Amino acid sequence: MLRIIEVGPRDGLQNEATPIPTDAKLAFIKNLLASGLNEIEATSFVSPKWVPQLGDAAELWPQLPKQDGALFSALVPNQKGLERAIEVGVQRIAVFTAASDAFTQKNINMTVDQSLDVFHEVVQEFRSKVAHGWVRGYVSTAFECPYAGRIEPKQVVRVCKRLMDMGVDELSIGDTIGVAAPKEVEALTKALADIAPLSSIAYHFHDTRGTAIANVAKALEMGIEAFDSSAAGLGGCPYAPGAGGNLATEDLVYFLERSGVPTGVKLDRLAQASIPILQVLGRPPAAKAQLAALAHAAAASPSPKG
Ligand code: HMG
Ligand code: MG
Repeated sequence: MLRIIEVGPRDGLQNEATPIPTDAKLAFIKNLLASGLNEIEATSFVSPKWVPQLGDAAELWPQLPKQDGALFSALVPNQKGLERAIEVGVQRIAVFTAASDAFTQKNINMTVDQSLDVFHEVVQEFRSKVAHGWVRGYVSTAFECPYAGRIEPKQVVRVCKRLMDMGVDELSIGDTIGVAAPKEVEALTKALADIAPLSSIAYHFHDTRGTAIANVAKALEMGIEAFDSSAAGLGGCPYAPGAGGNLATEDLVYFLERSGVPTGVKLDRLAQASIPILQVLGRPPAAKAQLAALAHAAAASPSPKG
Protein backbone atom coordinates (compact mmCIF):
# COMPACT_ATOMS: atom_id res chain seq x y z
CA MET A 1 0.00 0.00 0.00
CA LEU A 2 1.37 3.35 -1.02
CA ARG A 3 2.21 5.73 1.83
CA ILE A 4 2.14 9.51 1.84
CA ILE A 5 4.15 11.15 4.60
CA GLU A 6 2.79 14.65 5.11
CA VAL A 7 5.65 16.95 6.11
CA GLY A 8 3.78 20.28 5.91
CA PRO A 9 3.66 21.04 9.64
CA ARG A 10 7.46 20.53 9.84
CA ASP A 11 9.17 21.15 6.49
CA GLY A 12 6.31 23.38 5.37
CA LEU A 13 6.51 25.75 8.32
CA GLN A 14 10.14 25.62 9.52
CA ASN A 15 11.26 28.29 7.07
CA GLU A 16 8.42 30.75 7.63
CA ALA A 17 9.35 34.06 9.22
CA THR A 18 5.80 34.92 10.38
CA PRO A 19 5.26 33.60 13.92
CA ILE A 20 2.58 30.91 13.78
CA PRO A 21 0.61 30.26 16.99
CA THR A 22 0.69 26.66 18.24
CA ASP A 23 -3.11 26.52 17.97
CA ALA A 24 -2.93 27.35 14.25
CA LYS A 25 -0.44 24.49 13.75
CA LEU A 26 -2.74 22.12 15.66
CA ALA A 27 -5.73 23.17 13.56
CA PHE A 28 -3.67 22.56 10.40
CA ILE A 29 -2.74 19.06 11.61
CA LYS A 30 -6.37 18.31 12.49
CA ASN A 31 -7.45 19.36 8.99
CA LEU A 32 -4.77 17.17 7.40
CA LEU A 33 -5.98 14.15 9.40
CA ALA A 34 -9.58 14.89 8.43
CA SER A 35 -8.60 14.78 4.75
CA GLY A 36 -7.39 11.19 5.22
CA LEU A 37 -3.65 11.69 5.70
CA ASN A 38 -2.44 9.57 8.60
CA GLU A 39 1.37 9.88 8.64
CA ILE A 40 2.29 13.40 9.65
CA GLU A 41 5.69 14.86 10.50
CA ALA A 42 4.44 17.28 13.13
CA THR A 43 7.49 19.26 14.26
CA SER A 44 11.23 19.23 15.10
CA PHE A 45 13.04 19.04 18.42
CA VAL A 46 15.88 21.14 17.02
CA SER A 47 17.54 24.16 18.60
CA PRO A 48 15.02 27.05 18.76
CA LYS A 49 18.00 29.33 18.13
CA TRP A 50 18.40 27.71 14.72
CA VAL A 51 14.73 27.19 13.86
CA PRO A 52 12.60 29.52 16.02
CA GLN A 53 9.38 28.64 14.19
CA LEU A 54 9.38 25.13 15.69
CA GLY A 55 10.47 26.21 19.17
CA ASP A 56 7.03 25.17 20.46
CA ALA A 57 7.56 21.44 19.71
CA ALA A 58 7.24 20.38 23.37
CA GLU A 59 4.00 22.38 23.79
CA LEU A 60 2.53 21.16 20.51
CA TRP A 61 3.25 17.45 20.87
CA PRO A 62 1.01 16.61 23.88
CA GLN A 63 -1.90 18.43 22.21
CA LEU A 64 -1.78 16.43 18.95
CA PRO A 65 -5.16 14.83 18.15
CA LYS A 66 -5.56 11.34 19.60
CA GLN A 67 -6.91 9.58 16.55
CA ASP A 68 -6.79 5.85 15.79
CA GLY A 69 -4.25 5.12 13.10
CA ALA A 70 -2.60 8.56 13.23
CA LEU A 71 1.19 8.34 13.17
CA PHE A 72 3.10 11.46 14.18
CA SER A 73 6.84 11.88 13.90
CA ALA A 74 9.39 14.58 14.68
CA LEU A 75 12.93 15.51 13.68
CA VAL A 76 15.65 14.99 16.27
CA PRO A 77 19.15 16.41 15.60
CA ASN A 78 21.08 15.28 18.70
CA GLN A 79 20.89 13.83 22.25
CA LYS A 80 19.31 17.00 23.59
CA GLY A 81 16.57 16.81 20.97
CA LEU A 82 16.04 13.14 21.78
CA GLU A 83 15.65 13.86 25.50
CA ARG A 84 13.10 16.59 24.77
CA ALA A 85 11.21 14.31 22.38
CA ILE A 86 11.12 11.30 24.72
CA GLU A 87 9.95 13.50 27.58
CA VAL A 88 6.73 14.28 25.71
CA GLY A 89 6.22 10.73 24.44
CA VAL A 90 7.49 10.84 20.83
CA GLN A 91 7.65 7.31 19.39
CA ARG A 92 8.64 8.06 15.81
CA ILE A 93 11.75 10.11 15.21
CA ALA A 94 13.66 11.23 12.14
CA VAL A 95 17.40 11.83 12.21
CA PHE A 96 18.74 13.92 9.36
CA THR A 97 22.03 14.12 7.55
CA ALA A 98 23.05 14.67 3.94
CA ALA A 99 25.27 13.46 1.15
CA SER A 100 27.51 16.53 1.38
CA ASP A 101 29.59 17.94 4.21
CA ALA A 102 29.00 21.50 3.06
CA PHE A 103 25.25 21.17 3.63
CA THR A 104 25.40 19.31 6.95
CA GLN A 105 27.83 21.94 8.25
CA LYS A 106 25.36 24.71 7.48
CA ASN A 107 22.30 22.71 8.58
CA ILE A 108 23.46 20.99 11.77
CA ASN A 109 26.99 22.27 12.30
CA MET A 110 28.59 18.84 11.78
CA THR A 111 30.29 16.96 8.97
CA VAL A 112 28.37 14.01 7.52
CA ASP A 113 30.54 11.53 9.43
CA GLN A 114 30.21 13.47 12.69
CA SER A 115 26.43 13.49 12.22
CA LEU A 116 26.39 9.73 11.59
CA ASP A 117 28.31 9.20 14.84
CA VAL A 118 25.84 11.40 16.73
CA PHE A 119 22.86 9.63 15.14
CA HIS A 120 24.29 6.20 15.95
CA GLU A 121 24.16 7.16 19.64
CA VAL A 122 20.76 8.81 19.27
CA VAL A 123 19.25 5.73 17.62
CA GLN A 124 20.77 3.37 20.22
CA GLU A 125 19.48 5.47 23.08
CA PHE A 126 16.05 5.78 21.44
CA ARG A 127 15.80 2.01 20.94
CA SER A 128 16.79 1.38 24.56
CA LYS A 129 14.15 3.78 25.88
CA VAL A 130 11.23 3.47 23.46
CA ALA A 131 10.01 -0.10 23.07
CA HIS A 132 8.16 0.15 19.77
CA GLY A 133 9.93 3.16 18.36
CA TRP A 134 10.35 3.89 14.67
CA VAL A 135 13.24 5.75 13.10
CA ARG A 136 13.58 7.45 9.75
CA GLY A 137 16.94 8.54 8.37
CA TYR A 138 16.90 11.51 6.03
CA VAL A 139 19.64 12.00 3.45
CA SER A 140 19.45 15.52 2.03
CA THR A 141 21.17 16.89 -1.08
CA ALA A 142 20.91 13.44 -2.68
CA PHE A 143 21.17 14.86 -6.21
CA GLU A 144 22.80 18.24 -5.73
CA CYS A 145 24.05 20.39 -2.88
CA PRO A 146 23.53 24.17 -3.00
CA TYR A 147 27.13 24.60 -1.82
CA ALA A 148 29.04 21.60 -3.23
CA GLY A 149 27.26 21.00 -6.55
CA ARG A 150 26.31 17.69 -8.18
CA ILE A 151 26.22 14.56 -6.03
CA GLU A 152 27.03 11.06 -7.32
CA PRO A 153 24.78 8.11 -6.34
CA LYS A 154 27.74 6.43 -4.62
CA GLN A 155 27.97 9.33 -2.14
CA VAL A 156 24.31 8.83 -1.22
CA VAL A 157 24.69 5.06 -1.03
CA ARG A 158 27.58 5.39 1.43
CA VAL A 159 25.52 7.50 3.83
CA CYS A 160 22.40 5.33 3.41
CA LYS A 161 24.42 2.20 4.18
CA ARG A 162 25.64 3.73 7.44
CA LEU A 163 22.06 4.64 8.36
CA MET A 164 20.76 1.15 7.53
CA ASP A 165 23.61 -0.38 9.56
CA MET A 166 22.62 1.69 12.59
CA GLY A 167 19.10 0.26 12.27
CA VAL A 168 16.86 2.96 10.86
CA ASP A 169 13.47 1.63 9.71
CA GLU A 170 13.26 3.86 6.67
CA LEU A 171 15.40 6.12 4.52
CA SER A 172 14.03 9.35 3.12
CA ILE A 173 16.03 10.53 0.14
CA GLY A 174 15.87 14.29 -0.22
CA ASP A 175 16.06 16.35 -3.39
CA THR A 176 16.51 19.32 -1.08
CA ILE A 177 16.73 22.02 -3.73
CA GLY A 178 14.41 20.37 -6.26
CA VAL A 179 16.80 19.79 -9.15
CA ALA A 180 16.44 16.10 -10.02
CA ALA A 181 15.05 14.67 -13.25
CA PRO A 182 13.66 11.12 -13.68
CA LYS A 183 16.86 9.67 -15.17
CA GLU A 184 18.75 10.64 -12.03
CA VAL A 185 16.02 9.12 -9.85
CA GLU A 186 16.33 5.93 -11.85
CA ALA A 187 20.12 5.78 -11.42
CA LEU A 188 19.97 6.50 -7.69
CA THR A 189 17.14 4.03 -7.04
CA LYS A 190 19.09 1.28 -8.83
CA ALA A 191 22.15 2.04 -6.71
CA LEU A 192 20.14 2.12 -3.47
CA ALA A 193 18.44 -1.19 -4.26
CA ASP A 194 21.82 -2.88 -3.60
CA ILE A 195 21.86 -1.81 0.05
CA ALA A 196 18.23 -1.41 1.13
CA PRO A 197 14.89 -3.01 0.29
CA LEU A 198 12.83 -0.67 -1.87
CA SER A 199 10.06 -0.96 0.73
CA SER A 200 12.31 0.92 3.18
CA ILE A 201 12.97 3.88 0.87
CA ALA A 202 10.87 7.05 0.64
CA TYR A 203 11.54 9.95 -1.69
CA HIS A 204 11.32 13.55 -0.51
CA PHE A 205 11.09 15.79 -3.54
CA HIS A 206 11.06 19.55 -3.45
CA ASP A 207 9.33 20.99 -6.51
CA THR A 208 11.49 24.04 -7.16
CA ARG A 209 11.70 23.39 -10.90
CA GLY A 210 8.44 21.50 -11.41
CA THR A 211 10.08 18.07 -11.80
CA ALA A 212 8.74 16.44 -8.62
CA ILE A 213 5.74 14.63 -10.14
CA ALA A 214 7.84 13.29 -13.01
CA ASN A 215 10.27 11.99 -10.40
CA VAL A 216 7.45 10.37 -8.42
CA ALA A 217 6.26 8.65 -11.61
CA LYS A 218 9.73 7.21 -12.22
CA ALA A 219 10.20 6.12 -8.59
CA LEU A 220 6.75 4.51 -8.57
CA GLU A 221 7.55 2.61 -11.76
CA MET A 222 10.70 1.31 -10.06
CA GLY A 223 8.80 0.02 -7.02
CA ILE A 224 9.07 2.86 -4.48
CA GLU A 225 5.98 2.98 -2.26
CA ALA A 226 6.45 6.01 0.00
CA PHE A 227 6.56 9.72 -0.80
CA ASP A 228 6.90 12.82 1.34
CA SER A 229 4.89 15.89 0.42
CA SER A 230 3.55 19.05 1.95
CA ALA A 231 -0.01 20.41 1.79
CA ALA A 232 -0.22 23.51 -0.41
CA GLY A 233 3.40 22.90 -1.42
CA LEU A 234 4.59 24.79 1.64
CA GLY A 235 8.19 24.40 2.55
CA GLY A 236 11.88 24.86 2.18
CA CYS A 237 14.97 24.42 4.27
CA PRO A 238 16.39 27.50 6.04
CA TYR A 239 19.90 26.22 5.34
CA ALA A 240 19.38 25.41 1.64
CA PRO A 241 19.13 28.60 -0.41
CA GLY A 242 16.67 28.10 -3.27
CA ALA A 243 15.08 25.02 -1.71
CA GLY A 244 11.62 26.12 -2.91
CA GLY A 245 8.44 24.41 -1.83
CA ASN A 246 7.95 20.72 -1.23
CA LEU A 247 6.03 18.63 -3.69
CA ALA A 248 2.41 19.64 -2.94
CA THR A 249 0.38 16.83 -1.37
CA GLU A 250 -2.57 17.91 -3.52
CA ASP A 251 -0.51 17.38 -6.71
CA LEU A 252 0.73 14.02 -5.42
CA VAL A 253 -2.75 12.79 -4.44
CA TYR A 254 -4.25 13.93 -7.74
CA PHE A 255 -1.50 12.25 -9.75
CA LEU A 256 -1.70 8.98 -7.81
CA GLU A 257 -5.48 8.70 -7.78
CA ARG A 258 -5.72 9.57 -11.47
CA SER A 259 -3.09 6.89 -12.12
CA GLY A 260 -5.21 4.30 -10.31
CA VAL A 261 -3.15 4.24 -7.10
CA PRO A 262 -5.49 4.64 -4.10
CA THR A 263 -4.32 7.06 -1.40
CA GLY A 264 -7.23 7.20 1.04
CA VAL A 265 -7.06 11.02 0.86
CA LYS A 266 -10.07 13.17 -0.08
CA LEU A 267 -8.64 15.81 -2.39
CA ASP A 268 -11.53 18.25 -1.85
CA ARG A 269 -10.94 18.16 1.93
CA LEU A 270 -7.18 18.38 1.49
CA ALA A 271 -7.49 21.43 -0.77
CA GLN A 272 -9.25 23.24 2.11
CA ALA A 273 -6.95 21.91 4.85
CA SER A 274 -4.20 24.51 4.48
CA ILE A 275 -6.43 27.56 3.89
CA PRO A 276 -6.43 28.76 7.53
CA ILE A 277 -2.64 28.43 7.88
CA LEU A 278 -2.14 30.16 4.53
CA GLN A 279 -4.26 32.99 5.90
CA VAL A 280 -1.96 33.22 8.95
CA LEU A 281 0.98 33.38 6.54
CA GLY A 282 -0.83 35.96 4.40
CA ARG A 283 -0.48 33.88 1.27
CA PRO A 284 -2.99 32.60 -1.30
CA PRO A 285 -3.05 28.92 -2.28
CA ALA A 286 -0.72 28.21 -5.20
CA ALA A 287 -0.43 24.44 -5.63
CA LYS A 288 -1.88 23.40 -8.99
CA ALA A 289 -4.17 20.53 -7.96
CA GLN A 290 -5.26 22.51 -4.91
CA LEU A 291 -6.28 25.48 -7.07
CA ALA A 292 -8.15 23.18 -9.44
CA ALA A 293 -9.99 21.47 -6.57
CA LEU A 294 -10.91 24.82 -5.01
CA ALA A 295 -12.16 26.13 -8.37
CA HIS A 296 -14.19 22.96 -8.88
CA ALA A 297 -15.76 23.30 -5.42
CA ALA A 298 -16.56 26.98 -6.04
CA ALA A 299 -18.19 26.16 -9.39
CA ALA A 300 -20.26 23.38 -7.80
CA SER A 301 -21.53 25.45 -4.88
CA PRO A 302 -24.72 27.46 -5.48
CA SER A 303 -23.93 31.10 -6.21
CA PRO A 304 -25.06 33.54 -3.52
CA LYS A 305 -28.31 35.32 -4.38
CA GLY A 306 -27.74 39.00 -4.86
P1 HMG B 1 25.04 24.00 17.58
O1 HMG B 1 24.88 25.49 17.73
O2 HMG B 1 26.27 23.48 16.95
O3 HMG B 1 24.83 23.19 18.93
O4 HMG B 1 23.75 23.48 16.79
P2 HMG B 1 25.20 23.47 20.41
O5 HMG B 1 25.24 22.12 21.04
O6 HMG B 1 26.38 24.39 20.49
O7 HMG B 1 23.90 24.23 20.94
C1 HMG B 1 23.62 25.60 20.73
C2 HMG B 1 22.46 25.98 21.63
O8 HMG B 1 21.27 25.28 21.25
C3 HMG B 1 22.69 25.61 23.10
O9 HMG B 1 21.95 26.55 23.88
C4 HMG B 1 22.04 24.27 23.22
O10 HMG B 1 21.63 23.96 24.53
C5 HMG B 1 20.83 24.41 22.31
P3 HMG B 1 22.73 27.66 24.76
O11 HMG B 1 23.67 26.90 25.62
O12 HMG B 1 23.43 28.52 23.73
O13 HMG B 1 21.62 28.35 25.48
N1 HMG B 1 20.43 23.14 21.71
C6 HMG B 1 19.15 22.72 21.68
N2 HMG B 1 18.01 23.24 22.19
C7 HMG B 1 16.89 22.55 21.98
N3 HMG B 1 16.85 21.36 21.31
C8 HMG B 1 17.96 20.82 20.79
C9 HMG B 1 19.18 21.51 20.98
N4 HMG B 1 20.44 21.25 20.61
C10 HMG B 1 21.19 22.26 21.07
N5 HMG B 1 17.91 19.68 20.12
C11 HMG B 1 22.14 21.80 16.19
C12 HMG B 1 23.61 22.13 16.41
C13 HMG B 1 22.08 20.44 15.54
C14 HMG B 1 21.43 21.81 17.54
C15 HMG B 1 21.53 22.91 15.28
O14 HMG B 1 22.34 23.04 14.17
C16 HMG B 1 20.13 22.62 14.86
O15 HMG B 1 19.20 22.55 15.65
N6 HMG B 1 19.91 22.45 13.51
C17 HMG B 1 18.62 22.12 12.95
C18 HMG B 1 18.48 22.72 11.57
C19 HMG B 1 17.18 22.30 10.96
O16 HMG B 1 16.20 22.00 11.63
N7 HMG B 1 17.14 22.30 9.62
C20 HMG B 1 15.98 21.95 8.87
C21 HMG B 1 15.68 20.48 8.89
S1 HMG B 1 16.57 19.56 7.68
C22 HMG B 1 15.67 19.75 6.23
O17 HMG B 1 14.80 20.58 6.15
C23 HMG B 1 15.89 18.80 5.08
C24 HMG B 1 14.80 17.73 4.98
O18 HMG B 1 13.53 18.32 4.78
C25 HMG B 1 15.10 16.79 3.79
C26 HMG B 1 15.39 17.51 2.49
O19 HMG B 1 14.61 18.36 2.05
O20 HMG B 1 16.45 17.19 1.91
C27 HMG B 1 14.72 16.88 6.24
MG1 MG C 1 12.74 19.05 2.87
